[in-house]
Amino acid sequence: MKGKSMRILSGIQPSGVLHIGNYFGMMRPAIALQAEGEAFYFIADYHALTSVRDPKALRENIRRVALDFLACGLDPERAALFRQSDVPQVTELAWILSTIAPMGLLERSHSYKDKLARGMPPSVGLFSYPVLMAADILIYDSDVVPVGKDQKQHIEITRDLVVKINETFGQSEPDGQIFKLPEPRIQAATEVVPGIDGQKMSKSYGNNIDIFGDEKEMRKRVMSIVTDSTPVEAPKDASRSTIFQLYSLVASKSEIAGMRERFQKGGTGYGNFKKELFEKLWEYFTPMRERREEILADKSYIDNVLARGAKRANEIADQVMTRVRKRVGLR
Ligand code: AMP
Ligand code: TRP
Repeated sequence: MKGKSMRILSGIQPSGVLHIGNYFGMMRPAIALQAEGEAFYFIADYHALTSVRDPKALRENIRRVALDFLACGLDPERAALFRQSDVPQVTELAWILSTIAPMGLLERSHSYKDKLARGMPPSVGLFSYPVLMAADILIYDSDVVPVGKDQKQHIEITRDLVVKINETFGQSEPDGQIFKLPEPRIQAATEVVPGIDGQKMSKSYGNNIDIFGDEKEMRKRVMSIVTDSTPVEAPKDASRSTIFQLYSLVASKSEIAGMRERFQKGGTGYGNFKKELFEKLWEYFTPMRERREEILADKSYIDNVLARGAKRANEIADQVMTRVRKRVGLR
């Protein structure tokens, strides 16, 4: 990205309490990227309407996601943090994109099929979810989108839509482009963080370890990680162990090597490894828990951050929408 600064964008749904899969898959990479360009991180409340039907719960979740993201290190001096619905123009762009989006492209979406399989009602909004997500990305002329692996197909759909809209409306542009192609940024080491049953960690599977659960709860979740029945004295396979995978996210290189050796050697039971994992996890998030208390003590902090973020996001979104409306013939 020569000359102009790289624009980074990501979103997270306020549909429940954030877990360590969200943290390592999306929040930590997004926080690391905030120093490398101009970052826009938003709370995807329009998206959450596809699953949350309780207005009070939605409002509470939005605040808690803002709080947790800030506590984890999002720096509002570097990154704009805002509510998706504070930029309602994004729904206009979603409509424009939906008139170009081929049905077949959306019919191939795994996440739609997965959500139906989990019993979610098949609404039009749930079906066209990837179009709104494309609008989220394109309305800020984003270059890079840090997400977990489960969102990869959504970014691919966005890229397909960019090609299509450029073909349809881009001819009059000097470079043939209305939008540039955004790139997903997926951390190989944390693309799928396992939950306590070894499947992908997800609140809808009930296998989550929450970032800011209390001590008793976090210990209980860690102690209930599912293991195989290898006896204490026997050697164990670290690479296939959820305990070891989670430990690798929070321990130092030498600690990780030490645990791997003890797995191979045998003589240590899974219960002991779980205790070590709990200690490390608890320690890892301690500074963030402290920061969270500080933010909570400052009553207007979150509102101020969200208001500033919304102002910045609207500046860019307005520029892009003026360009798009003109190109498609609406102005
Ligand atoms: P969601 O739970 O769908 O709102 O996820 C928010 C963000 O966290 C997305 O970027 C996901 O890809 C990421 N994420 C969620 N669960 C995991 C997981 N188990 N491993 C890695 N990333 C995840
Ligand atoms: N679909 C994402 C999720 O469920 C959230 C999201 C909405 C998003 N719009 C986005 C992520 C734009 C990245 C870019 O996790």
